[in-house]
Amino acid sequence: MPVLDLFRLEGKRALITGGTRGLGLEMARALAEAGASVLLTGSNPENLTQAEATLRAGGHDVTSLRADLSQPEEAERLGALVLREHPPVDILINNVGGRRINTPTEDLALEDWRRILDLNLTQAFILTKCLGGAMIPRRWGRIINLASINAFWPGKAMRGRAYETSKGALTMFTKALAADWAVHGITVNAIAPGPFLTDANRRWIGERPEFEGEVAAGIPMGRWGRPAEIGPLALYLASEASSFMTGSVLVLDGGKLLW
Ligand SMILES: NC(=O)c1ccc[n+]([C@@H]2O[C@H](COP(=O)([O-])OP(=O)(O)OC[C@H]3O[C@@H](n4cnc5c(N)ncnc54)[C@H](OP(=O)(O)O)[C@@H]3O)[C@@H](O)[C@H]2O)c1
Repeated sequence: MPVLDLFRLEGKRALITGGTRGLGLEMARALAEAGASVLLTGSNPENLTQAEATLRAGGHDVTSLRADLSQPEEAERLGALVLREHPPVDILINNVGGRRINTPTEDLALEDWRRILDLNLTQAFILTKCLGGAMIPRRWGRIINLASINAFWPGKAMRGRAYETSKGALTMFTKALAADWAVHGITVNAIAPGPFLTDANRRWIGERPEFEGEVAAGIPMGRWGRPAEIGPLALYLASEASSFMTGSVLVLDGGKLLW
């Protein structure tokens, strides 16, 4: 088969959580351009409508579904709904995650710790169990988890540590499950992005403008990642092109971890 054909996704359906903005939207766009039909999830109805319209304008097959994935019961509801109304899912990208607070560990409330773990880890487990589990009898599947370089490296300016802890756990979940499900034809890999200019980081930059230059100066390439730069890697992991790769955590960081 010609090598570029290995990246084609016609006939495949992909679900991308947090697919309405930032890295999720760019991964959804890449998979859709390769021929996949895509299911996008998000919590904000306006962002869902806008993302759906953006991808539809490109001629892509897209459906959007609302769910607040900081709530484990919402993740369970979403998984059941997708199995019932939009099966089968061939490619699952567990992209939702992040943190909106920067509280030191000594002051971090238990409920905030739990909320960050639920948003970055628990919902990925729930959707993987539900939608990945349904891949087993079909003997083909791709699961891609969005970790972070903070799974291996505690950010100097970060506080609270629930975010790094959850991303570290997500990478180990990726590896352990990859070993379990290899026999079923399902690959499980993770992407560990470095700093990308998405809304999440624009918010931090808005609070402290020097942050933008400080981060860029700490990256050998001298700049932040552009969200579209994650699309090709997601497509590789989602497609037949990565048929011998499982349990890998691929760093995409402009060389950030080298310094
Ligand atoms: N950007 C980076 O530099 C960077 C670096 C390392 C790792 N990552 C990881 O990459 C992933 C994507 O990051 P990003 O920067 O693209 O994030 P983002 O710009 O904040 O976008 C997040 C997406 O997730 C959705 N979302 C947020 N909270 C949600 C919730 N409670 N329930 C459902 N959907 C929710 C948003 O949709 P709504 O607005 O509709 O809710 C949006 O589509 C995250 O897991 C993040 O930890 C990012």
